[in-house]
Amino acid sequence: MLRDARLGKADERFLHYTASIDFDRRLVRYDLLGSMAHVLMLMERGIITRGDAARILSGLLELYRGGVELRDEDEDVHMAVERLLHALAGDVAGKMHTARSRNDQVALDLRMLLRDELNRLCGRMIELMRVLLRIAEQHIETVMPGYTHLQRAQPVTIAHHMLAHFWSLSRDLERLEQAYRRLNRSPLGACALAGTSFSIDRRRTAELLGFSGIVENSQDAVASRDFMLEPLAACAIASVSLSRIAEELILWSTSEFGFVELDARYCSTSSMMPQKKNPDALELMRARSAKVFGALTTALAMLKALPLAYNRDLQELSPVVLDALETLGSSAEMLGAILGSTRFRRDRLREACSQEMGATLLAEMLARECGMEFRRAHALVAKAAALAEGGGSIAMCLQEAAEELGLELCLSAEAVEKLLTPEGCVQALSSEGSASAASLRRQLEHARQVLEEREAALREREAGLRRALDALLEYSRRVAGVQG
Ligand code: ARG
Repeated sequence: MLRDARLGKADERFLHYTASIDFDRRLVRYDLLGSMAHVLMLMERGIITRGDAARILSGLLELYRGGVELRDEDEDVHMAVERLLHALAGDVAGKMHTARSRNDQVALDLRMLLRDELNRLCGRMIELMRVLLRIAEQHIETVMPGYTHLQRAQPVTIAHHMLAHFWSLSRDLERLEQAYRRLNRSPLGACALAGTSFSIDRRRTAELLGFSGIVENSQDAVASRDFMLEPLAACAIASVSLSRIAEELILWSTSEFGFVELDARYCSTSSMMPQKKNPDALELMRARSAKVFGALTTALAMLKALPLAYNRDLQELSPVVLDALETLGSSAEMLGAILGSTRFRRDRLREACSQEMGATLLAEMLARECGMEFRRAHALVAKAAALAEGGGSIAMCLQEAAEELGLELCLSAEAVEKLLTPEGCVQALSSEGSASAASLRRQLEHARQVLEEREAALREREAGLRRALDALLEYSRRVAGVQG
């Protein structure tokens, strides 16, 4: 019907090539809600009569209840809804598209879909953060080697390491929340690109749909997709965080490290080597992060050369973005399950904290207690470490090193020995954010508070949406019930 007057019949292959119907199944609910808000606003503004609004709304409500059967021949969700509405309500269905275009409609549906998807993703990220926090709480004093350049550096604790990942994820979560805040604006009423000569009320539809405001400029409203780029970029960054955790677990579960024992439920075996226990899910996670980066590159490239306003290219972007969100979400969920069931091998972790890892704190101690310049203390311990390589420990070689360099030692061998245990090193740390138990307790408290706040904010966003959309449905039912 849409094409008849202007173009006549299309080639089947063209229809198939241009259809977005598969993806559009995800938009049905939002398309119907958006249409209800639009029709109510048209009625309030006297653009259509209450009787017409009632007939259209009762049709939309019926579709909302009974579901929309999208056909392969439907070009997109918007045309499918119009077709089905026409079957239910007759010609009055044709009034629904007054002062509206598929261009503002699809931008609206996508923003509504993304609100829900982002909330779901935030929930999954919060769950993962909760797992990290729980592990940290259980391992405040479980020492482990901290690394730089993947070379043993200084002793830290499992809690310290897990909280490092926790904070990185909390920033990822913040980025997703910020993207949500910026996208929660309604493009509806922008129409094809220039607005309309009907006296619509864009702020009213925005309010009915639970948006915090409108996208003011009508060309911007239909042409821009930074509201999809931003969540995607946030997903790409979060995927880096997840992939790094996955990589560490892969490494730590090797016989060479032996720091953790992965739960067999999350491992695969080999079809040929009977002894194998492989971390396949973590490897896939590492690989899938690359798909999210690819999605971001794809999206940026799709958008960079589009002149204003709407171009059909935009249709191609939506599945790319939603796939990336799902990739990250499922990875976050999987990682939470794996981490939550991982056993940390305290004995192996402690054994790996070899004595030379106390070198830094020994140098600090010499500088603090013996009044040595740090640079001199550094050189002294470096000398001791070099001597220890030929056999012995740093503690044993310290005196010899001091003599060779002509330096006075003010430390007892006993104090040095005590410092050079992994526990001694960790306890000696006193700065804010360090790996000492006292510092970690403060951090844990802060982390718990942040997690609670983010969770409360998520519940509030979800409840706000539910309230608005329930009220919209209720209002639609009220009008539909009053046939005039
Ligand atoms: N399926 C289209 C999309 O996702 C809907 C908008 C179509 N608009 C148009 N002018 N052809 O972008």
